[in-house]
Parts: sequence; structure tokens; C-alpha cells
Amino acid sequence: MADGSSFYVTTPIFYVNDVPHIGHAYTEVATDVLARWHRQAGDDTWMLTGTDEHGQKILRTATANGVTPQEWADRLVSSAWLPLLQTVNIANDDFIRTTEPRHEENVQRFLQKLYDDGHIYTGEYEGHYCVGCEEYKQDADLVPGTGEYAGQEVCAIHSKPVELLQEKNYFFRMSAFTQRLLTLYEERPDFVQPESARNEVVSFVRQGLDDLSISRSTFDWGVKVPWDDSHVVYVWFDALLNYITAVGYGVDEEEFARRWPAHHIVGKDILRFHAVIWPAMLMAAGLDVPRGVFGHGWLLVGGEKMSKSKLTGIMPEHITDTFGSDAFRYYFLSAISFGSDGSFSWEDLSARYHAELANGFGNLASRIITMIERYCDGSVPSVAVLTDADAAISALEKTVTDASWQAINRCAIHEAIAAVWELVNALNGYLTTEQPWMLAKNPENRARLETVLAVAYHGLGTLAVLLSPILPTAAAKLWSALGAAGLVQEQRIDRAYQWSVGTRVAQLAGLFPRIEAVE
Ligand code: ME8
Ligand code: MG
Repeated sequence: MADGSSFYVTTPIFYVNDVPHIGHAYTEVATDVLARWHRQAGDDTWMLTGTDEHGQKILRTATANGVTPQEWADRLVSSAWLPLLQTVNIANDDFIRTTEPRHEENVQRFLQKLYDDGHIYTGEYEGHYCVGCEEYKQDADLVPGTGEYAGQEVCAIHSKPVELLQEKNYFFRMSAFTQRLLTLYEERPDFVQPESARNEVVSFVRQGLDDLSISRSTFDWGVKVPWDDSHVVYVWFDALLNYITAVGYGVDEEEFARRWPAHHIVGKDILRFHAVIWPAMLMAAGLDVPRGVFGHGWLLVGGEKMSKSKLTGIMPEHITDTFGSDAFRYYFLSAISFGSDGSFSWEDLSARYHAELANGFGNLASRIITMIERYCDGSVPSVAVLTDADAAISALEKTVTDASWQAINRCAIHEAIAAVWELVNALNGYLTTEQPWMLAKNPENRARLETVLAVAYHGLGTLAVLLSPILPTAAAKLWSALGAAGLVQEQRIDRAYQWSVGTRVAQLAGLFPRIEAVE
């Protein structure tokens, strides 16, 4: 990659039954960081996110609130889901809603093709349905309920009872794809990531797949089945197709060929839909399977998945109003290794904010800029003779540039940040050892003072470029303080250390001010 190749990355499209919490914001920022990094590496990047608006869950919520499901969806999208993107500073290229004609029409087109090609038949099904998941559950997916549901079997994800449904529906012959899926996982070991997610998917598919019920006739909030309008399309079958309807499937061959296939970033709760059902659907339609599916971990509250339905959600604004969007992005992506679960605490957020962002990075940046203002009248100094310590900083700039880009190519976002932070720490150590403020006391040290500040200045610019996907606001402020040309997000991140220096620095307002009391 980094050669102008296509990088299409997606988030799940979220249910509009309620407002977003920090779990949804977490998926958004992780995906946005990958997209920004690839965009800055010169890849032909496209980031898609959006909302999932059909199905029983949305219908029931709307009905309970006395409005139509369309009114409910419109309200939630404009008041909550679009604003979320501003709150955590997402630079998405498109936002798709499953109630848009560009989506609905092409869901029908896809379904009709599968029907015409013999992948769909009429059948009957009886099973336990979880409306929270919008999914029929196997016995293995149920656990004993507690509290008000003691004595009943409940969904392991939503902790709520399932409903016994019996339906005459259209079915997708998914069982026919069992072997082809196993071959796919075998031939492309990184198709499902991380390793733990891959193992779960492979052992699930090895047991053999059932066919999938893909229509409903007991309610009508959905896309109509094209050959039988007494049925609507099963909400997951409809939702998964957003990833292709948004990039021209069925209408714009050129755009579709340019973007597809995608990298899907999802929470591990919906891994099977993306790593099993979705590639089987694509195989049936004769389309390429995704480039990969990454199942990230859950933000936990009291050891359980934070959720809308359990009312354990923390609103993203609650954090960003105090700490800002950069801190939100940095905290969740550096403190949790991407792929593992993590718990949020205000204490941990505040401690890391002060230690890493305020003292580690922010203070470093303002010290360097201030010294150049004070000792060099704001003119960017140049190097004279390089010592080993100076050369070590320059070498590290290249090392961390390469290491972070390699980590991003493995979706190891936390490792990319850790690599960049080696440079933050090394520059702090460099200032401590070289003591430019002591050098400044004696005019005989002038050349050495300028060299030290020039080396530090160069390292700082490399940091601005490398941190711009994670901390877009702070990186932009720092870039203008460095007096560098252009926009920081236009600098090639895979060659961050080659940025072209400016001639004069400008004042830098505190990037990460101290925050006195939280919660
Ligand atoms: O499943 N920790 O939508 P959804 C981390 N509409 N991430 C979390 C989280 C948590 N506690 N809670 C939610 C759906 N998420 C379907 C998707 S895609 C074709 C259709 C994030 O609103 C995470 O990305 O229930 C998870 O997979 C997603 O929200 C589920 O969102
Ligand atoms: Mg959910």
C-alpha cells in the first residue's frame, strides 16, 4: 500500500433505536484513524459510515414513541448520529442511510439476482429470535437469565429473553457456501482479524452452516422483496448490502470497481454477520469478498458490554466537552489494544491526559517553540555539527515513521501510537540531556544551541505529521506554529521525517491545558 492503491474502509451502520454512546464513537474514531492514515499515505481512500433504519427493533421503538419509523429515524439521524461525527471529528467521505432510494433499489436488484440464480427458496423456520440482535439464536448463544429474567434463557449479548417465532419465509441457501468459506479463511489467514476472532469464526463454520431466513411477513418496515411484496427483506441482509450500494453497486460500474472490496471494522458482537453471512452473500452474487474484517473489542461497564439497551452508555460529548475530541481519540486508541476489550474510567482518562498529552506531548511542543522564539527571535535555526545524540533523534524519526505505518497496515492502532510516542519520549529526554536553556546562557555555545533547537524542531514537525490522524486539531495548531507550508494532513505520513521545514515559528497556544476537577 501507500502507492495510490484503493483503500475503502467502513464502520458498521448503527441502529437508530437510540442515541450513540462511547462504544459507537470508539468504532468511528478507530476507522477514521485508519482512513486518515491511508489518505495521508497517498492511498485512494474512502471512508463510509451510516445508519441501519429498518427492522423490528426500530419499528417497536418508533411505535412506543408514537411516531412512524421513518420519522423516528429522521429525528435520530439529524439530532444524534450526524452530530456524533462532529463530536469526535470524523472525516468520513460518505454517510449512508438504509432508507435512501440508492440503497433500497439496489438491495432489490441484488436480491432479484440471487433469486434468478437459484440461491433463494421458500421454507419454514421456527427458532428463538433476539430483537436486540435482530437474529435467530442457537441454544449455545443463550445463557440463564438473572434478576427479573431469572429462570428464563436470555440472549448472551442483550441479557433479555428471546421470542419463539415460527415463519414461512424466503431462505438463502447459505449452507452451500460452507466449504468455500473455510477455504477462504485458510487461504487468507488475515481475512478475519484479530487471531481470536478468526478462530471463533472458523470453528463456527466448521460445524456446518444452516440456510438463512431472509424475509419477514409479520411486519412491513423494510425493503420489499421484489417478487413478493407481502414480504420485507430481513434487516441484516438489507444492512450488509450498504457496503456496496454506497459505492455504486448496480448503477456505477466504474465507481464500484474503484472502491470495492472494503476493509470492514466492526465490534466483535457482529463478527459472524460480517465474516460468514456477508462473504457468502457476495459469493452467491459473484462479487469479490471483502479485503478483511476486523472485530474490535468491547468497552465494558462493570465487566459487561456497554449498551444502549442496558442504559449503561456514556455519551461521547460528556468526555469531549471537558477534554476535547483529540483526547477522546487518543485515549481510547492508545489505552486499549485494538482487538481487546477495555474498561473506561474517568481517573484513567484524566491521568493519561495529563501525563501523556499535557505533559508528554503538549509541553514538549510549547517548550521547543518558546525557546526558538526566545533564543532565536522566532527564526528557525539550522544545524552545525551533528553529535551522536542529534543523529539518534533523526534516525528515530525514520524508525518510528516506518514502524507506525507498518502497524497501521496490521490495524494495530495502539502499536502505531506507541511507536510515535517513542519519539515524544526521546525528544523529552534529548532536551533534558542537552539543556538548551543552559547553552543559551553563554554566547560561545551559540552554534550548539542552534543545532539542538533545530534537531528538536525537526523532530517536532515529524510528530505533527505522524500525529495528525490521531490528534487532527492539535497537529494542525502545531503545524502552523512550526511555520511549515501547506496543511499538515497533506504531508505524506509514510515519509513523515522528510517534511520541509519553515523559516519562522509562531506562537503556540497550550495544546492540552490542565483540567482541574473531573466528575
Ligand atoms: O449491530 N464497545 O448496530 P448497533 C465497543 N445495525 N463497540 C461498541 C459497543 C461497546 N460497548 N457497543 C456498540 C448493529 N459498539 C447493526 C450493524 S452493519 C451492516 C449493521 C459498536 O447499533 C461496535 O462497532 O448495535 C458494534 O459492532 C456496533 O457498535 C453495533 O452497533
Ligand atoms: Mg447492538
